[in-house]
Formats: sequence, C-alpha cells, structure tokens
Amino acid sequence: DKPKVLVTREDIPKSALSILEEKCELEVMPNKSPISRTDLLNKISGKHGIFCFLTDKIDKEVLDQAGSQLKVIGTMSVGYDHLDLNEIKKRNITVGYTPGVLTAPTAELTVALTLATTRRLFEAHDEIANGGWAKCSWGPLWMCGSGLVGAKVGIVGLGSIGLAVAKRLLPFEVAKIMYCGRHEKPEAAAQVLGEYVTFDQLLQESDVVIIMCPLNDTTRNMFGPTQFALMKPNAVFINTSRGGVVDQDALVNALKTGQIAAAGLDVMTPEPLPADHELTKLKNCVLIPHIGSATLQTRTTMATMTAQNIVNALEGKPMPAQLC
Ligand code: GLV
Ligand code: GLV
Repeated sequence: DKPKVLVTREDIPKSALSILEEKCELEVMPNKSPISRTDLLNKISGKHGIFCFLTDKIDKEVLDQAGSQLKVIGTMSVGYDHLDLNEIKKRNITVGYTPGVLTAPTAELTVALTLATTRRLFEAHDEIANGGWAKCSWGPLWMCGSGLVGAKVGIVGLGSIGLAVAKRLLPFEVAKIMYCGRHEKPEAAAQVLGEYVTFDQLLQESDVVIIMCPLNDTTRNMFGPTQFALMKPNAVFINTSRGGVVDQDALVNALKTGQIAAAGLDVMTPEPLPADHELTKLKNCVLIPHIGSATLQTRTTMATMTAQNIVNALEGKPMPAQLC
C-alpha cells in the first residue's frame, strides 16, 4: 500500500502534486484557504505524511490525533514557528522545510518594502487618487522621506536572508551596516563590511532597523516599548520575518507618538490582519500581506521541494532539506 499523505489545501503547483501522486495516496483538501482546525484534526488521523503551510498549527493536539504512523511533516516555508518541534521530536517524526530557495526573493521583497517605506511610496500613490496632489500642486517638502543614501542600517539577525538584504542595500549607498544576534558572524559580516553591535546599540544608532530573525522563545516580543524608546525619531522599522517578534501595541504607539518615523510590515499579528485594524489607518505604516517569497518561480520550487522532502522521508532517503 502507498503511504497516505494529507495536503492541507488544493492550490499548490501541479508539479508538486505529481511528485506526491506517484508515490503516495493523497488526500488534498478542496479549499483555497487554510484548512480548518476541525478538518486538520480529523484528516490527519491515519496519515503517514502531511504537506502543510505556515498557516497550519501543528501542535500536540494535532500530533496526538495523527497516530503513531505519522512519519513526516513537510512545511512549504522556511519558518517553522507554527510547528511544535519538541512534541514532533518526541515522536520521531521528521520535518522537511524550504530554506535557501526563498532567500533571494525574500531579500528582494525586504528591499522593496524598505524603499517603499523610506520614500513613502504608498502614501504618495494615494495622494493622486485622494486629491492631495491637486490640492498642494507639489511642494518642496511634500512627500519627503528619508531614503537610503547615507542611512545607517541595523539588521537584527544576519542569517542568510539578512545577509542577502545587506548585500542588496549596499549599492544604494547606505553609510553602514550593523547587525546583532546571538553570535558574531565574521564571514557573513565581512561580505558587507558589517559591524557586530549589541541590540541596544543597533536600536540607538540605526536609521533603518530590519528584522531578519526567526520567531522563537528568545525573539518573541523582543521589540517592546523599551526598544522603540531607544530608537531614533527618524528611524524606520522593517519586518519581513514574523509578527510575533514585535509587541504590536507598542509599535502602534511608537508610530502614533512619533517615537519612530515609519514602519514597513510584511508580517503582523494576527494574520490575516483585520481590515479595520489600527495599523491600517496609520499613514506612516506600509502593510503588505506576508508575500516575502511570493514569486511564481519561488513558490513552485518551494512546493516541489516540500513534496520531495515528504516522498524521500517516506522512502527512508535523505531529504533535500531536513529540519529535524
Ligand atoms: C515565509 O514566511 C516562510 O517562512 O517561508
Ligand atoms: C542571529 O540570527 C544569530 O543567531 O546570531
């Protein structure tokens, strides 16, 4: 008998489905939105593998429901804060994910968001349709932002995506790249003349702060009132990693009171962010809906990699990318 695999939504590339179909008995959820919790708990029962997404929380309850035959979890993401790794490891389940293949597109999106925020692109775009341009008919200080030339950039977490962002920012003639993290990373830093600083120093000196660390127990809420208070009033805050790294109420307050100048967020809490959330009303906040890796080519590669991770694990072969 072929191993049974659950795919938690139907809108994944055909190439990934083909890889799975050849070797597995598939149950593909007929929905273009995340699987409901109830369906997840029901459908995982008896499966040997699951193809899931960052929208699917795989915790103790789900794993208990799955049964001991569950051998592999393949998540189509590089982040894995939606997976309870402790519970997964206890059960000897292997996990595949998609590092590497989304580094460049996510860095590209991070740079796009940084430019959009420091040059107020979305606000400026709106000024045409809302009549703001007609009213002022252009002004010497109208829609002025900070830009990147001469900016001191602080990167929180110089991992592969952080490094890829730093490399892409250098040609914009930034003044300096600083970074912080648990460990100094001399080899990566040397490629961008990055200076290793403490978290506080990074907050105090950066004109642009870019969050590039994963969400875990150490990084959860690492940006709170104290941290925003340390930042410069002209500082721009960019987050394309995970919303949970930030105490979002503290961020809203910092944006409202002018403690910092602006924020650009690809990730927030919760996701999806309600349309009437306070953040959506702030002119100095650029919001995009978690699209860091969203190029067709990248998402296709991520999907086939996830499928191959699952098939290989079920066949007892090494995975293209095994997390644990
Ligand atoms: C995106 O956020 C990912 O983790 O792949
Ligand atoms: C940060 O990502 C570190 O581990 O140093």
